[in-house]
Amino acid sequence: MTADEKQRTAVFLDLAGDFISSGYRGAEQGYLFTDDVPSAGEGAKNGENSTQGDSLEKIAAEIRACAGCPLGKTRTNAAPGEGVTQPLVMVIGEGPGAEEDAQGRPFVGRAGQLLDKMLSSINLSRNSNCFIANVVKCRPPNNRDPRPEETASCAHFLKRQIVFLKPKFILVAGRIAAQTLLETTEPIGKLRGKFTELTVKDMTIPLLVTYHPAALLRNEEYKRPAWEDLKLLRSRIDELNGEN
Ligand code: URA
Repeated sequence: MTADEKQRTAVFLDLAGDFISSGYRGAEQGYLFTDDVPSAGEGAKNGENSTQGDSLEKIAAEIRACAGCPLGKTRTNAAPGEGVTQPLVMVIGEGPGAEEDAQGRPFVGRAGQLLDKMLSSINLSRNSNCFIANVVKCRPPNNRDPRPEETASCAHFLKRQIVFLKPKFILVAGRIAAQTLLETTEPIGKLRGKFTELTVKDMTIPLLVTYHPAALLRNEEYKRPAWEDLKLLRSRIDELNGEN
């Protein structure tokens, strides 16, 4: 059952309860539901691939309707992600900021403009060979870090996006996204600059962490190592293409 279905069922049951007990509406309950995630064995047992019938549009529609965590209440627009459907690189950031919340698109503010330039410097673009998403799809108020329960509640959307998109590489922007995806508390300085792997379902995808473009805007010192990371990504892409 999805978080939305649970929410609507709970509201209906509350209403029925009020009607039966007094006829007056009681105080609204602040529920916090999450989507059921099929257990690992479930799909296999039924002989089905749980991503069958999935699509980016379906995932995006569910994200836009999601009330799975408190961020659903404070967002203006969710930003599900955007880019091409068979990306060479999937870029994963932290979560929407003010501009992303206003437009419902990822990385469209100042940091996003820098991200586009960084990608372009190694011949990557959301218009031709990348897909851009975040670990949480709704803006945390005042741009605070997303909370573990929020990233956990949103994780199944990102997982479905990865499974659907099958990117050849994942580029992770910033500490929060890196720590979330790699399930670690290691500092970004230790995580960046080297390839590791992310296993999602039956796929193992090479993953590289780099500094968040917003960190580069705040601190010039990160620009050189970020450029080294981008060059490393480009060389792995070229290797894959047999160009090295
Ligand atoms: N920062 C992020 O991590 N993601 C966005 O979409 C925008 C800013």
